[in-house]
Amino acid sequence: MKGIILAGGTGTRLRPLTQVTNKHLLPVYNKPMIYYPLEALKVCGITNIMIVSGRGHAGHFLDLLGSGKDLGADLSYDIQEEAGGIAQALSVAEDFADGEQIAVILGDNIFSRVEELRAGVEAFEAQAQGAKIFLKSVLDARRFGVAEIAGERMVSIMEKPKQPKSDLAVVGFYLYDKQVFDVIRTLKPSARGELEITDVNNWYVANNIMTYQIIQGDWTDAGTFDSLLRANMLAAGIQS
Ligand code: DAU
Repeated sequence: MKGIILAGGTGTRLRPLTQVTNKHLLPVYNKPMIYYPLEALKVCGITNIMIVSGRGHAGHFLDLLGSGKDLGADLSYDIQEEAGGIAQALSVAEDFADGEQIAVILGDNIFSRVEELRAGVEAFEAQAQGAKIFLKSVLDARRFGVAEIAGERMVSIMEKPKQPKSDLAVVGFYLYDKQVFDVIRTLKPSARGELEITDVNNWYVANNIMTYQIIQGDWTDAGTFDSLLRANMLAAGIQS
């Protein structure tokens, strides 16, 4: 399986921290943010990894991580020309994926128990087709994609609902079969003008080929001042 780290976007919610740099290069405890998703993919046994970032700071990722040799990974890089959404950023990696199953991780997501993801990846590798997402029970579900489930079955996912149907946030780690790029081609921009990963996931839900796993470990994104602070605390906790 190949891995894709999405590190584009504009980071507007973190200005002025992101005025002259990319969000995923900001420090999180003792490392740049991008190290955490990279490490997560490696723990999942995935070392062939593409980093998709926006224009402007792409060279800084290369300066920082190079070929990936020192980090035990084989890194490639590509550019998302405009911040048109998570699904649009993923579409950039179609040639890299080359028909294989892929693991996609958002560059600002940090997990305390990465082994849980590895178990999910191993189970998914045996699946012939479909997708798999990971859910986490949270207090502030309205900030995220939120899953409605009925037993083993996923009913639907809503992006940032005003009245969430559950407390299960969709975390930024997704497993897809090769159909994902065809699905992205069918998408229309959402009200916020983005190609939404939630629309991709709902396609798999509607076709009954979406599975899910609820994670128990801590998880946070790092796209706001408060969540960036939480990410720092979480990372400090993991490393002590
Ligand atoms: O963190 C999990 C949440 O991430 C999910 O629960 C949501 O369903 C999903 O839509 C996403 O929500 P956010 O609105 O918080 O995503 P954000 O725009 O902050 O983007 C998250 C990462 O995705 C960002 O760190 C880099 C990447 N990204 C995002 C955009 C909009 C790109 O690479 N390119 C983009 O154009």
